[in-house]
Order: sequence, then structure tokens, then C-alpha cells
Amino acid sequence: MSGGAGVRVGIHDLAVATGHHVLDLDDLAARNGVDPAKYHVGLGQDAFSMPAADEDIVTMGAAAALPLIERHGTDGIRTVLFATESGVDQSKSAAVVAHGLLGLPSTARAVELKQACYGGTAALVAALGIVARDPRERVLVIASDVARYDLDSAAEPTQGAGAVAFLVAADPDLIEIEPASGLFSADVDDFWRPNDRSTALVDGRLSVTAYVDALLGSWDDLAERGGIAPADIDRWLHHQPFTKMALKAHRAWSKHVGAEFDETELATGFTYNRRTGNSYTASVFLALAALLDLDDDLEGRRLALFSYGSGSVGELLTGIVKPGYRALRRAGQVAGLLDARVPISVDDYRELHAATTTTSEARQNPEVTTGPFRFVGVEAGARRYARTGVGTSEDAIG
Ligand code: COA
Repeated sequence: MSGGAGVRVGIHDLAVATGHHVLDLDDLAARNGVDPAKYHVGLGQDAFSMPAADEDIVTMGAAAALPLIERHGTDGIRTVLFATESGVDQSKSAAVVAHGLLGLPSTARAVELKQACYGGTAALVAALGIVARDPRERVLVIASDVARYDLDSAAEPTQGAGAVAFLVAADPDLIEIEPASGLFSADVDDFWRPNDRSTALVDGRLSVTAYVDALLGSWDDLAERGGIAPADIDRWLHHQPFTKMALKAHRAWSKHVGAEFDETELATGFTYNRRTGNSYTASVFLALAALLDLDDDLEGRRLALFSYGSGSVGELLTGIVKPGYRALRRAGQVAGLLDARVPISVDDYRELHAATTTTSEARQNPEVTTGPFRFVGVEAGARRYARTGVGTSEDAIG
């Protein structure tokens, strides 16, 4: 049970979007003179998504949310929470822009949340509280990010892009989130993006140890507060800056609690992230989407969902999958979305990467995206967006 006064609250529906392009990591390995196995096995990544010149976190986030609005309408939505660590404005929230693009009622608050990759989970927890306070309300949560590191850096193959949107509601159809969670915060400089940079700075090695510390600390806190034991958890989902990170952390957790760990257990949750690359705030929810789509035995199972945001905050939540959840997922929808991306050559990727800028100078972007929303350009210092007339990301792949 979750929420105050016995209200059951959780994730009612969830949808995914990603960037227009895909870069095959075999091509990047060839360019960098690296054995492709380093990327596929060493990092656990096969490709990464890249937004077109007329896409960004807002267009991806709104594209993820659109099918939810089409399926459920706007009734009860009085809050839009937009989690991102690749924000496009220092003041105006991406939530307000998405709210406008989606045609949501003016009787809704709209806010952006930031704490590196943890922001999506912070939004989920805030949403649970809002719905518990008034179960007639629904909260639209959007987690959307473009992971950008410097060209030719060690972190380059762990870039990516993606968005997940979900509705948080009382008596949810997909997952009921349980009330106890485990927390761990520590001030660490493992990854950050100063205001004058469009690419993140990262101490990759430190981020591995900081991530593990956060998982173990969150587990200990949850075990103490919620009385949960390792055997009570049926499936694990972790934040995946690269999927190997989740494996490393889970190995450390297994050792910490003295539990057996069959490494193939986590593979289903890696399926989409291996293909999109890092999607920061969306990453753990993309893992959740993969599990819901591809694991056929989840009814009544308890999931553990570990979120890590560099800097750092970790939170471990648990949830119970609802009976009948499978009927709500469209088999093959996300795989189709990923298959439909347009391959980009390494030369074109490098050019697009270098051209990506956060400047407020006037410009018109080329028309490239086939998604439902476009980042048209910058006018009078403000970013302009438009609906393209294309259907939802789900329609786009049939
Ligand atoms: N075949 C198979 N595996 C190989 C290989 C090969 N030919 N060559 C190397 N590897 C393995 C290495 O053994 C290593 O595995 P291990 O970590 O299990 O030992 C892995 O590939 C990576 O190699 P490494 O030399 O450590 O990579 P790197 O120094 O080039 O960069 C990161 C790796 C993770 C540090 C870097 O990609 C990074 O910083 N990414 C960003 C991480 C991030 O975003 N953190 C913040 C959020 S948590």
C-alpha cells in the first residue's frame, strides 16, 4: 500500500520516446581504433540515440507524454513534473513548454526537477505524495534527457538520448509503489555540468564507486525502515549510465547481503538502454518499460527500482506489478520505435554534436524529425516549438 490513509498510488501508464538518429557503436569503435567488444561487453552498450537538429528534451518529452494524453485524456491532471539534467533554460521549466505543446488545462502546475539522473525518481516520489493527498488528482511525470560528453573522451560511447513519461494515479493499472524507500545522499564530484558547458564533466571511475556506495546505503536504509529482505524482491531495475554499471553495482549488492546473483537476471531490463545509450533521468524507467514489455511473468511480483543521480543521491523504491498489466503494453512498440531511428555516420554525428549549442542567438532549425513535435528555432531569444502534424511516437512505427 502506498500513500497516506491507505491510498494505493503508483504508475498507471507509461510511454517512451527517443531521438531521431542512432549511432552504431561498431562504427564509433572503428573510428576510435577500439575493439568493439570494449563497448558491447566492457560497457554493455550497442548503440546510442541522438536527437536531430530540431529535437531536444522538450520535443522528446512531449512525444513520450502524447500517447498517455491520447489514451487517458487530461482529467485530473493538475501537475506536470519534468525531470531533466540537460535543461534548455535556466528559469523557464521544460514542464511549462510541454504543458503547452500537449494542450493541458491551465489549471495545472508545471515544474522542472534537477538532481542529475535521480530527477525522474524525485518526480515520481513527489507525484505519489500529491496523489496521496488528493486521490482524484493525476500527475504527469516526464523524464527526458540528452547525454552529451566531449568528442573523443572516455565517456563518448556512453552518450544517448531518450524520454519516458508516466501517469501517477490512485489505484494504478501498472505498478503500485510501496511506501518505504531507501535513501542515500553524499556530496561527490563524480559528474556535473557547469552552466557554461553543453557537455557533462565526469570522473567515470569515481562515479562507479559513488554509485555502488549509494546502492548499498539505500539498501541498508530500506532494509532498516521497510524490513525488506533480499528474497522478497523478484526483479531488479537499476539506473544504467551504461548497462555494465548496473551489473557491477548488483554484484557489490549481492556480496553485501550475501545473496546469490545470476548475472543473466538483469538482461531483460538492459534491452532498451543497450540501444538508446544513457538517457539520464529516463534510464531506470526505460529499464522498467523493457521489463514490462519483455518479461511475461510479472503479475503480483515485487520490483526493486534503484535510481542514482551523480553528485549524489540514491533512492531504492519497491513496487508490486498489477494483475492485467500486460494487456496495457503494446508488444513490440518500443522495439519498433528504436528500429525506426535513422542511422547516422560517425562524420555526421561529430558534425551534429559540434553544432549543438545552447546559444540564444536567432536561428531556424532544419526540418528533420519525424516525431510529433519540433524545436523550430530561436526567436527573440526564446526557443520556439511546434506540433508537426505527425501522429504519436506509437503511430509513427505503426
Ligand atoms: N573486450 C571486452 N572488454 C573490454 C575490452 C575488450 N576488448 N577492452 C576493455 N574492456 C573492458 C574493461 O576491462 C572495462 O571493464 P571493467 O570495468 O569491468 O573492468 C570496460 O571495458 C571499460 O574499460 P575502461 O578502460 O575502464 O574504459 P574507459 O576508461 O575508456 O571508460 C568509463 C569507461 C565508464 C569510465 C567511461 O565510459 C565513462 O566515464 N562513462 C561515463 C559514466 C557516467 O556517465 N557516469 C555518471 C553517471 S553514473
